[in-house]
Amino acid sequence: MKFFVDTADVDAIRELNDLGMVDGVTTNPSLILKSGRDIKEVTKEICDMVEGPVSAECVALDYDGMISEGRTLAKIADNIAIKLPLTWAGLKACKTLTGEGHMVNVTLCFSANQALLAAKAGATFISPFLGRLDDLSLDGMDLIQDIRTIYDNYGFETQILAASIRNVNHVKDAALIGADVITAPPAVIKSLANHVLTDKGLDAFMADWKKTGQTIA
Ligand code: E4P
Repeated sequence: MKFFVDTADVDAIRELNDLGMVDGVTTNPSLILKSGRDIKEVTKEICDMVEGPVSAECVALDYDGMISEGRTLAKIADNIAIKLPLTWAGLKACKTLTGEGHMVNVTLCFSANQALLAAKAGATFISPFLGRLDDLSLDGMDLIQDIRTIYDNYGFETQILAASIRNVNHVKDAALIGADVITAPPAVIKSLANHVLTDKGLDAFMADWKKTGQTIA
């Protein structure tokens, strides 16, 4: 499973990238706002740091605007994945831009049928939003399972990018289902290493070690 980091915070990406945990990055207009940075400038900085795909989102809602913005974003670096919304205009732009050889991440996916359309439009990635479904008391993980089944049934190569990840269980369950990628905030990725019994065990070992009076040199 690939790990993408869901942020435009360069320092947070660098910290995880130095650990070898970053296979790519996803951004969106809200994350660009949060970063306080210029979209082209910060995206270039991220692309220079990370080898894998870096998703940058178009904000035009019409086909022509998406094509123009997508081509502009793609010029930032070779590892740009153009992010487009799951609308008919977005699907049409996906077909055009993937046809030109660009990576495309189709975002704001909330149903298996939407994911089917994205695959037929040639999307490189489909981003089903788990957390936002869970917020409505729906089961976001069911959607990941349905998309996995449909894509496997027909051999679609579009990668399932489980998005809107809110907690460690989302990561584990998406991995068990076989999502190709998760994109999660840095804090969620870092918390994957946490376990209360690890902390407790370490405390006990350290206390006993101190009693031995030894050092390792
Ligand atoms: C990623 O591509 C999405 O933009 C992101 O995961 C959305 O997450 P949110 O629902 O926490 O805003």
